[in-house]
Amino acid sequence: MKHTKFPLIRLWAVVLLGILPVTACRKAPEGEEAEPSKSNGIILGFSQIGAESAWRKCNSRSIQDAAAAAGIQLLFSNAEQKQENQIKAIRSFIAYQVDVIAFVPIVSDGWDNVLQEAKDARIPVLVTDRKINIQDESLYAGFIGTDSNQEGRDAARFLLEKFKDRMASGNRPIRIVELSGTVGSSPAARRAQGFREIIDQYPQFQIIYSASGDFLRSKGYELMQSILKSHSDIDVIFSHNDGMTLGILDAMKERNIKAGTDIVIVTIDAEQAAIDALRRGEVNCVIECNPKTGPDIMNLARQLARGEPISRLIHVEEAVFSEGDDLSSLEPRGY
Ligand code: AHR
Repeated sequence: MKHTKFPLIRLWAVVLLGILPVTACRKAPEGEEAEPSKSNGIILGFSQIGAESAWRKCNSRSIQDAAAAAGIQLLFSNAEQKQENQIKAIRSFIAYQVDVIAFVPIVSDGWDNVLQEAKDARIPVLVTDRKINIQDESLYAGFIGTDSNQEGRDAARFLLEKFKDRMASGNRPIRIVELSGTVGSSPAARRAQGFREIIDQYPQFQIIYSASGDFLRSKGYELMQSILKSHSDIDVIFSHNDGMTLGILDAMKERNIKAGTDIVIVTIDAEQAAIDALRRGEVNCVIECNPKTGPDIMNLARQLARGEPISRLIHVEEAVFSEGDDLSSLEPRGY
């Protein structure tokens, strides 16, 4: 294990880690306090972006539970939505000489320097959930997560089917409002891109308004309140995540607008609350974004710790749930 060879550096790293919200995790049995896990020899430094949504909380739980199950010692850092905190955490992991670093990049740009430092320290890096833009692709070993372009395309394809009669029967425009995720993040950029790839082929579809709700329920609510004051002609809302969608539904209820009927709602994540809204007819299409990547991340961390190569790009499986689907056998979502 690398870290035991450098007790002084490790001591400094512990001091550094002490000033960041980093936790070492083991899943505690009911009623017992969590303690740092006994490592199977692998130490994984993980930088998570925060806890902005039920999806994110499930993603963190999946990683923490999987690390405990795999006997991997996890140094888990919550960046509270700040890239600078992620960079600090990654630097601390380098100083600590962890075996593998994994992180969810809050935004796509700005990782070149810190990943060069990880490469110089010979620590392999796994990027997960969100993608990065980087000059030197060799600065990280691989990516595992969802295919955000595909999610955007799935949203558009649902609309093509939903509005096929209206499209066939005339040129009346189909007006779309888009609430996108965090500016500069790959899911926001790619969901928008995938959606437009399809929508732009049909001039009847018009995106009349697009703004970022930062993946937050509170911002979804606030934005929708103001959009509804200035637009009375919305046919569709395409929301980049369920958190914002729940805020949108709250704002629509206040104005007695029937979500799912007066305005078609398409949303991404497939949280339990969105599936429930789909069952009630308040949402028309829910595109899954799978947060349960913990077990796969641990397998990849093991491979990387052994010095083995991993696939450059792993997209996890995802489903689309639409109105009219038989959801009776759908398992509780767990988030
Ligand atoms: O990066 C994935 C996105 O981030 C999810 O769609 C959203 O809910 C989360 O906060």
